[in-house]
Amino acid sequence: MTFDLKGKAVVLTGGSRGIGRSTALALAREGARLAVMARSEGGLAKTVRAVAREGGQAAPMACDITDDASVHNAVDRAAQVLGGIDVFLNVAGITLQKPLLEAEPEDFMPVMNTNLLGAVRCTRCAIPYLRDRRGVVVNVASIIVSNPFPHMGVYACSKWALAAYSHTLRQELHGTGVRVLTVYPSIVRTDMLEEEPVLARAPSQSPDACARAIVKAIKRGKQEAGTAWLPKISGALFKLYPPWGDRINRLFLPRGYK
Ligand SMILES: NC(=O)c1ccc[n+]([C@@H]2O[C@H](COP(=O)([O-])OP(=O)(O)OC[C@H]3O[C@@H](n4cnc5c(N)ncnc54)[C@H](OP(=O)(O)O)[C@@H]3O)[C@@H](O)[C@H]2O)c1
Repeated sequence: MTFDLKGKAVVLTGGSRGIGRSTALALAREGARLAVMARSEGGLAKTVRAVAREGGQAAPMACDITDDASVHNAVDRAAQVLGGIDVFLNVAGITLQKPLLEAEPEDFMPVMNTNLLGAVRCTRCAIPYLRDRRGVVVNVASIIVSNPFPHMGVYACSKWALAAYSHTLRQELHGTGVRVLTVYPSIVRTDMLEEEPVLARAPSQSPDACARAIVKAIKRGKQEAGTAWLPKISGALFKLYPPWGDRINRLFLPRGYK
């Protein structure tokens, strides 16, 4: 199946920078009408200007996805401005690099609250609009789901949980006309990567390349998509025989990490 994005009403979180901004631009190039959500109004304004330079339109929706009222308000306003929602992308996320044995339960809370529960809050608000339009939910998980990496365990738990949410939601929405796409971006050169020095030597891609892969997967009506081929191979190795995956990861660990 193919999905034409021209004229579609698309809302995305994480719209103030990084993969979210690049995805907004890629969607605008397809003719989608956009609303972009994030906390930073300055970051959203930059995205709005960048989309306008592409000849598109994006409405900024300041929103904290860890706050129920803020999410309700932003999603409803976005639907009002766009006249409905055809596609909702959960892109926003935060990271944490910490060895698991040093991570306190409290360290998991903000990461889970943003990466898993932020997407849960947004999706619950967006679903009634998506049902009306037989739309698409896109959940941006991570390659970390199939390629676990040392010191990234807290983040990995949140993305495994998001992937589980996404797969279950897909089944529960069967027959409603609403489709669910789970995306596993590779390592992407954004601000987030600055907080993950353990990944500094691993192969990475640009946010624009990642965004193109996300848009392609939406247009092709996919249920799952990676954004680069190399992690797909190492992910398959992890599944087949985990010690091979561990060995490959050790090749990319910077000095000082075990
Ligand atoms: N970079 C990578 O290597 C990589 C790889 C795989 C998956 N991913 C995933 O891709 C997504 C985007 O990552 P990125 O690399 O573009 O990160 P980024 O540059 O750090 O951007 C993160 C985005 O999330 C938003 N955000 C964070 N907390 C929020 C909150 N409480 N409420 C609303 N918005 C919030 C930020 O906006 P404000 O700060 O303005 O609120 C920002 O727009 C994340 O889910 C990440 O886990 C990234």
